Amino acid sequence: MTQRAYNFTPGPSMLPLPVLRRIQEEWLDYNGMGASVIEISHLIPEFKALLFETEDLLRELLEAPANYKIAFIHGGGQMQFALVPLNLIALKPARKALYVETGLFATRAIAEGGKHATVEVIASSQDTNFDRIPAIDPAALDPAASYLHITTNNTVVGTQWRDFPRTGGLPLVGDLTSELLSRPIDVSRFGLLYAGAQKNLGVSGIAVIVVREDLLAHGSPMLPKMLNYTQLVRDRSLSNTVNTFAIYVANLMLKWVKASGGVRAMEANNQEKARLLYELLGRHEGFYHLHAQPGHRSAMNVTFRLNTPELEAAFIAEARAEGLYALKGHHEFGGIRASIYNAMPLEGVRALIDFSETFVRRHG
Ligand SMILES: Cc1ncc(COP(=O)(O)O)c(C=O)c1O
Repeated sequence: MTQRAYNFTPGPSMLPLPVLRRIQEEWLDYNGMGASVIEISHLIPEFKALLFETEDLLRELLEAPANYKIAFIHGGGQMQFALVPLNLIALKPARKALYVETGLFATRAIAEGGKHATVEVIASSQDTNFDRIPAIDPAALDPAASYLHITTNNTVVGTQWRDFPRTGGLPLVGDLTSELLSRPIDVSRFGLLYAGAQKNLGVSGIAVIVVREDLLAHGSPMLPKMLNYTQLVRDRSLSNTVNTFAIYVANLMLKWVKASGGVRAMEANNQEKARLLYELLGRHEGFYHLHAQPGHRSAMNVTFRLNTPELEAAFIAEARAEGLYALKGHHEFGGIRASIYNAMPLEGVRALIDFSETFVRRHG
């Protein structure tokens, strides 16, 4: 096998080696069936068992209460930017939704939400280039709104909510795409949470929704069947041919999380990785410039800049030559970004730290 890089890509992200090996091993013959997992019907008992086991594993690892329903849906994370209002806006007659603007994907969610709802941005950190999570004025939590939307981890700018806002009776909706299963979260704080699968759950193109059951049955009657949360929950994700490969990989990812000690073990590892990396970058303050303010920094996406674009290009190229892959920041944001999701081992972060120290000596 060729040498595998330490892959800091923001997504689709690296997967754990045991998961990749298992896919390889059973690629031609899933479960002794003499066929690949992508060559079997989604409606036969063997596949349904896999799908329902995946749902159960996710419920168990998230410790989701019984009144929350789980469904897998086509279309990834950003599809939910439209589906959230289309499914929830009719909860209240004002058809109003509140949003917190914390970065690129939050901004996109707001733009998409505005097509289907009267949107009010109640807090934003845009004025400081999204380097923090803004405080919410409790008076802004309009009870006439159908929900409040937040992006719990901001993948592009590298900030993360430590705790989630108390919203009273207002359903909290969370985009957890880039942090699901990276730390324990109290699901009961949310009315609905969703995540594209391509970070900690495997394959791009699908998302998972976890929704409190009393919020269902409010979808627009014009909603296509496949985009209707209520229908999907009723059909247990089988409203049409589900993405069978993505479900299979999600199943293996969940089993890997469980075998590794569960979400608390993921959190401990993630905290250690982030602590070490932020500490090293902070130690070379005049050379590396961390973007996010202390107390707001993401444990998943570490963002920083160097003094010139040329130095940043050299950092990315020299890192690549040493097997540290995909450290370039988002094209709309620039700089450097190290995405260190669940599958990034501590050794990968240590390798990046060693490289970053050497780079200072070489160019400082
Ligand atoms: C917070 C967040 N939301 C949504 C998305 C987009 O998801 P998708 O590309 O699956 O639509 C991403 C992708 O990186 C993300 O980080």
